[in-house]
Amino acid sequence: MKALKIETTLFVFENENELPEDVSKLIDLAKKARLKAYAPYSNFAVGAAILLDNNEVVTGSNQENASYPSGLCAERTAIYYAGAKYPDAKILKIAIVAGSLKFETSQPIPPCGACRQAIAEYEVNQKTNIEIYFMGTSGNILKSNSLENLLPLIFDKSQL
Ligand code: THU
Repeated sequence: MKALKIETTLFVFENENELPEDVSKLIDLAKKARLKAYAPYSNFAVGAAILLDNNEVVTGSNQENASYPSGLCAERTAIYYAGAKYPDAKILKIAIVAGSLKFETSQPIPPCGACRQAIAEYEVNQKTNIEIYFMGTSGNILKSNSLENLLPLIFDKSQL
């Protein structure tokens, strides 16, 4: 037996002033989208903004449901909207802002596993990396250069 070591690298921005201008704008749009979250059950609101290579930005927020599993995360709301509206565009960057509606969330909140799997589908199909930036409602912003960095050992269509 031998060990298989998997490494990943993320980048930390201490605040929004350190971000490139286009990313800072995308974070602002994710913050705005977060304000439209429908999260009466968890009181945890998430906004996502996606920059496409046609220069369009698509946003989404989490949408909950009285039947809890029927709700959808912000990232998937946004990426499915992007796929539905601009099926030929490539996804360049995703910004995610997430946090409690009851208290400050100062640590970066990464996309959940199901959202990573959903984003992976698009990254695999378009054959170019998707940059992912995520933060709480304040504090550091983390950057991943690709979805693959957040989800090593991706299950994708090549295995079907
Ligand atoms: N949520 C997201 O929108 N994105 C994630 O990646 C994690 C969780 C939402 C789902 C639910 O509405 C609330 O946050 C609490 O889980």
